[in-house]
Amino acid sequence: MAERIFIGVAWPYANGPLHLGHLAGSYLPADIFARYHRIIGNHVLMVSGSDQHGTPITLRAEDEGVEPKEIVERFHASFLDTWEKMGIDFDLFTTTGTRNHTETVQQVFLSLLEQGYIYKDTMLLPYSAQEKRFLPDRYVEGICPHCGHKKARGDQCDQCGKTLNPIDLIEPRGKRDGSKLEFRESEHFFLKLTSFEHSLLDWIKRQEHWRPNVLNFSRRFIEDGLKDRAITRDIEWGIPIPLDGYDNKRIYVWFEAVIGYWSAAQEWAKNIKSPSSWEQFLTDPGTKSFYFMGKDNIPFHTIIWPSILMGVGSMNLPYDVPANEFLNLEGAKLSTSGNWAIWLPDYLENFDPDPLRYVLSATMPETSDTNFSWDNFVSRNNRELVATYGNLVHRVLTLTYMHFNGKFPSPGKMEKDDHMLMDMLPQSLKQAGERLEGCKFRDALGVAMNLAQSANRYIDFMAPWKTIKTDPIRTATTLWICINVISCLRTLMYPFLPFSSQNLHEQLGNQGTIQDCGWKLDTITPGQCFPSPQPLFKKLDESIADHQRKRLEEQSP
Ligand code: MF3
Ligand code: ZN
Repeated sequence: MAERIFIGVAWPYANGPLHLGHLAGSYLPADIFARYHRIIGNHVLMVSGSDQHGTPITLRAEDEGVEPKEIVERFHASFLDTWEKMGIDFDLFTTTGTRNHTETVQQVFLSLLEQGYIYKDTMLLPYSAQEKRFLPDRYVEGICPHCGHKKARGDQCDQCGKTLNPIDLIEPRGKRDGSKLEFRESEHFFLKLTSFEHSLLDWIKRQEHWRPNVLNFSRRFIEDGLKDRAITRDIEWGIPIPLDGYDNKRIYVWFEAVIGYWSAAQEWAKNIKSPSSWEQFLTDPGTKSFYFMGKDNIPFHTIIWPSILMGVGSMNLPYDVPANEFLNLEGAKLSTSGNWAIWLPDYLENFDPDPLRYVLSATMPETSDTNFSWDNFVSRNNRELVATYGNLVHRVLTLTYMHFNGKFPSPGKMEKDDHMLMDMLPQSLKQAGERLEGCKFRDALGVAMNLAQSANRYIDFMAPWKTIKTDPIRTATTLWICINVISCLRTLMYPFLPFSSQNLHEQLGNQGTIQDCGWKLDTITPGQCFPSPQPLFKKLDESIADHQRKRLEEQSP
């Protein structure tokens, strides 16, 4: 029976182009997972969108001397282009700037207010005498009261991951001019997280299938004691509070951005002319919902969003939150402000999407931080993608094309080695499927590569290029088996390498899309024609690694 799977992916701030960290942390794993569920026949709804509010946006707008609107439009367009070229296949990638989103957020706000989960109070906020205004959380820096990190931000500490309020910081200062701050009273709305403490803890304790880092982090977060959190700010760029008398305040970005999962599902349902279809994905208890993000986003998806969902009532809580750790770059922490990043639009001007998808899948930071280096990129492309997988495909198809007139041969009698390899095909589909379902993407890719390696050993041993002179039937059997292997690899690789899988699908003489073939083995039909084979991947010159690393060093000040 087909299952329903909701996939929410963290909403990137529309204040700059996407980079490798975004892809490895959230979008690639989500896309792999979505493609797998679609090909096995499940109903998938994968949504996200541009996060258009918050100080990351207004900071950039101020730097450039333009309106925030101009920034978010520019980068939203850039995101859409990147998704298409990278093969990140959302059912909807919208923005938090839609009217639908504003309405949904305001409704949720009012519903929680009515139920007493949101209340009004005053709080002390950092005020800059120099700028004559309250400073947003991210404009404030100071020492983290939990771990002592010297550069904790007013909203969160990047070292220990705790969410913060500016007043929690020791020795707070203005981030941009280092100025001392005073704290002044301001009236705001608070989300009553304390009233969800018990239900959250009960719920979290039952999530034994979560990744240990996500589970432990969230559990400790609650056990340390939750505090009610202000969800409005003294700013102008954001969603208005749906009550009279608050014109100078807006709803805080983190409270409204997570509600984007809901508004996006509604927008998707309207787009497909079935306006209530979102309900099946967000409220039907039979639906499983998965949220993909980097580890800095964990508390917002395991604490804040679930609290909002509990407060609204009758909504599905996340089934899994497979957050990733961080991807470093050439051994150093990725930094967008320091321009220590590989920007995806730039990458895509020079390279194909699948090699990056491959290398990031093979080194995905699932359980600990991992590193991306250009050396490793070139060497994995050449040794694994080209030599192990691409060459296997190309060898098998060219030999068959040459010796069997562009048609698949009929196998003769099968021997032990033939059976052993053939038996690996259903086993690999099953094993990779289990790992994909459990969000163990590196392992799943390993299963596919292991099959390619076994097939290479088999073909080296059988040497069909030799047996063709002495034993054409034996050769036909060998090649028939190898074609079945590559046909199976086309499926196994599809979630990771959608472009080359579709290409291989067509090179095998098939029409339509690979997704329609399902996650199964269709043994190939003898006599079927296929076109003249073309290599699946390009070998990269070793000098590319040096060249790209130099470019990176030069772009970073
Ligand atoms: N824009 C936030 C960030 O980049 C993520 C928001 S995720 C959401 O860290 F779910 F809240 F939207
Ligand atoms: Zn800290």
